[in-house]
Amino acid sequence: MDFTINTSSNSDTLDHWFNSDTQIHHLYPQSIQLLAVRHWTPLHIAKLVSQFLVPKEGVKVLDIGSGVGKFCLAGAYYKPGAIFYGVEQRKHLVAHAETARNILGLGNVYFLNQNLTQLDFKQYDHFYFYNSFYENLADTEKIDNTITCSPQLYDYYNKQLYKKLEEMPAGTRLATFHSLEGEIPSSYQVVEAYVGKLLKFWIKI
Ligand SMILES: C[S@@+](CC[C@H](N)C(=O)[O-])C[C@H]1O[C@@H](n2cnc3c(N)ncnc32)[C@H](O)[C@@H]1O
Repeated sequence: MDFTINTSSNSDTLDHWFNSDTQIHHLYPQSIQLLAVRHWTPLHIAKLVSQFLVPKEGVKVLDIGSGVGKFCLAGAYYKPGAIFYGVEQRKHLVAHAETARNILGLGNVYFLNQNLTQLDFKQYDHFYFYNSFYENLADTEKIDNTITCSPQLYDYYNKQLYKKLEEMPAGTRLATFHSLEGEIPSSYQVVEAYVGKLLKFWIKI
């Protein structure tokens, strides 16, 4: 496994890209930039989350519903000794994530075009969840119309995620942003909260 720090001659360029949300959004087309305020994690949140989810070198972090990869890319920049994975059901968003990753030249971030229900969570150590099922609720802002959304799917995904999180070992870390918490088993305890409790850090006991 390659834990190479993102040294490279690339370092100043990376610092430049991660200088602000506006700057990092320039990696994407305008249609994607316009979705950022509602759907992509702000950099200051990604920094806090990656500090919590990477307690030591070499851990594998999964972003559950990774969109265009903003959280994973920021995590990989802030924590070069960890590996970030994103699972995303929309193929075209994964393509944007991979293009951005290649421009940045980050070697510790990967994207999977799958539904999270297909994924073996035991392959990862810690998890980030930015209320990914929200689009299934009525009258919510959608990213686009390329997938089916329904309240039934909201319940189904919540139950699937609950089960997968419950099966993880004690010590598993989870960060949630804007979560309604229906997907979180009672074995996870809040250890820190920020942004008026919209951002919560949990550890499984
Ligand atoms: C709010 S966006 C968050 C994106 C990313 N985590 C970030 O913070 O920049 C949620 C993403 O989850 C994806 N998603 C929702 N349900 C999913 C599922 N069952 N499997 C995989 N991806 C899913 C959506 O397509 C959307 O791109």
